[in-house]
Amino acid sequence: MEQSTFSDRAYRLKFLIWGARMFGRVTGRVPERTTWPLVWGGSRRYAPDRWKQRDRDFERRDFSYEDAVQFLQASLRKGPGVIRGSAKDVVQGSMPKEELDFVAKYLTGLRKEGRPLRGLHIGDFVGLSLAHLTDAARNVHAGSVVMSIDPNAPHRGMDNPKDLVTGLMARYDLLDNWLPLTGFTLERTGIADISNRNAGTTKFASYYGFGAAHVLANLAKVGTRFDFALIDGNHNSGYLRREIDRLSRLIRPGGLLFLDDLDEHWSGVTEVFDGLDHRRFQRLARGGRAGVVRVLREKGPGQTP
Ligand SMILES: C[S@@+](CC[C@H](N)C(=O)[O-])C[C@H]1O[C@@H](n2cnc3c(N)ncnc32)[C@H](O)[C@@H]1O
Repeated sequence: MEQSTFSDRAYRLKFLIWGARMFGRVTGRVPERTTWPLVWGGSRRYAPDRWKQRDRDFERRDFSYEDAVQFLQASLRKGPGVIRGSAKDVVQGSMPKEELDFVAKYLTGLRKEGRPLRGLHIGDFVGLSLAHLTDAARNVHAGSVVMSIDPNAPHRGMDNPKDLVTGLMARYDLLDNWLPLTGFTLERTGIADISNRNAGTTKFASYYGFGAAHVLANLAKVGTRFDFALIDGNHNSGYLRREIDRLSRLIRPGGLLFLDDLDEHWSGVTEVFDGLDHRRFQRLARGGRAGVVRVLREKGPGQTP
């Protein structure tokens, strides 16, 4: 007969306790002695695999891009609150691994300062770039904190994507290093909800959601300063330009600004990157589609963005 391992027995014990509680709840009585062997026998048949799988889903682990994609794709439709969406969209709506590795290298460069980093992440979607950068910041210093801003609007057919973001951050034990804000960096706008399920069509949902507005202006009032910021939210060039203007006062001089989507699909983003005022920003590098900028100094009085 197959020997049961210690962990099998632990799972069966869990099943036994659960069975007893359910029995008690339904009948209002403590199980009789004759019931225990039945539950113990049932636990051999049903308990281990089911619970092992569930515990594996919630196990804490080291961050890897591949694991994060797998987790997100597996969580669609079965996560808390059932999130619809296609597995393809998880990848297509997020920054690719190479770009995130490229950006994370610059965070590692800040390690020599030997203090916790304060980061700002704009545009979360399902959390891939957020988890990647928060993990990189935590590797620089365990006390690093990344603040994230996103209105949690439906995106690529996924309602309430923040549930996935939270699950992802929990999976890599990043909840202590994360400060989420639900809102728009500037004014509230409609969100383009691009759904691949409509095969090639782009559906513009005029969704405004309930997110807070003017989050960057309020952060300035609170007096927060960041070592770095990534912008991957609203891709309208006018909106982006105004975001960068605000950020130049929120990022400390010498801090870093990362932009995604410098490619032919978003020519406006490239235009903004290329047109940055060299007195205030130093363009450091470009990856496949991400750009890195050093913030030089704050905008002086009378200077226009
Ligand atoms: C391209 S996705 C972000 C992908 C994510 N950075 C990644 O690579 O994993 C854009 C996200 O920006 C959000 N967004 C749009 N306008 C925004 C704004 N004004 N402020 C903050 N987030 C915004 C959208 O809701 C969406 O979740």
